[in-house]
Amino acid sequence: MAQKNILVTGGAGYIGSHTVLQLLLGGFNTVVVDNLDNSSAVAIERVKELAADFAHNLSFHKVDLRDKPALEQIFASTKFEAVIHFAGLKAVGESVQKPLLYHNNNLIGTITLLEVMAAHGCKKLVFSSSATVYGWPKEVPCTEEFPLFAANPYGRTKLFIEEICRDIYGSDSEWKIILLRYFNPVGAHPSGHIGEDPRGIPNNLMPFVQQVAVGRRPALTVYGTDYSTKDGTGVRDYIHVVDLADGHIAALRKLDEPTVGCEVYNLGTGKGTSVLEMVAAFEKASGKKIPLVTSGRRPGDAEIVYASTDKAEKELKWKAKYGIDEMCRDQWNWASKNPYGYGSPDSTD
Ligand code: UD1
Repeated sequence: MAQKNILVTGGAGYIGSHTVLQLLLGGFNTVVVDNLDNSSAVAIERVKELAADFAHNLSFHKVDLRDKPALEQIFASTKFEAVIHFAGLKAVGESVQKPLLYHNNNLIGTITLLEVMAAHGCKKLVFSSSATVYGWPKEVPCTEEFPLFAANPYGRTKLFIEEICRDIYGSDSEWKIILLRYFNPVGAHPSGHIGEDPRGIPNNLMPFVQQVAVGRRPALTVYGTDYSTKDGTGVRDYIHVVDLADGHIAALRKLDEPTVGCEVYNLGTGKGTSVLEMVAAFEKASGKKIPLVTSGRRPGDAEIVYASTDKAEKELKWKAKYGIDEMCRDQWNWASKNPYGYGSPDSTD
């Protein structure tokens, strides 16, 4: 049987690179498009090393999705079975400061991609959405039917893209689209060769904890100790990035089913973990003490967010395998082997 060609946008990024590896190991031919604005070509090289005998099935184009002629050329030279679309900006605070940057990059990039896909008769898409579309959920676990609300421009780009997908499916039922709402991806590939490498000061909990552990930052600031949770700190659904990557392979297989239209699935573990529990698990995995400074709540933060995983388990036949101990073990393995991510001490702040 001929190998299927899959286009992965943002395939050099954190979740993208882990998914590309699982695709290669699963026997797919994978073409990555990434503008490398917030990612590194080194990740692609590392994925190739990990993929070993499958490495020749990976090709990479440094292209911005808004460059329509460049995208056209890629679609003209390869017939794609489906696209997995990760590419996008994702820092909440930056999106509040620079909303046009976010709307331009995320929305125009996606619309251009969808136009080129349609023009070339490729109408299967898996899109990287986020639990951020649940806003501040009134109850947990979050099911896919919950009302949607975006609390910031970044979240609005995710929500708008979901709506665009529902519209194009409504206009043309040949499209098959799966929207995956990720909870909190953490950890790294167990080899420690690929992982998350944010530029500048990390916004998210685990990249920050990891930088404290390797001595790049003095202490973790805990945002809020007065939530109505077990220990007063915020509760989230952390999911191992390799489980998340496997969720994309399950979604691709689902796209082969004739009845699929435009579907949405949560990808989480269904378990809530507090900031202090996560820090304790990381200290245990790394043997490092993480100094803490407590401060007030971070504006815009939800109290407790975790997923209902029933729909993904039933319909995608996918379930997360790893718990927080494995997430922290692999996060530390990556951090200790790559304290400056893919860069060097001078190439980062
Ligand atoms: C954040 C984004 C969300 C985005 C997600 C991507 C905000 C308000 N929300 O979600 O839109 O989809 O990242 O992964 O930024 N924490 C600390 N100290 C820190 C960092 C975080 O105590 O230095 C706490 C937070 O208050 C929260 C938990 O750790 O309780 C997780 O935070 P984070 O990793 O930023 O994820 P989210 O807030 O869930």
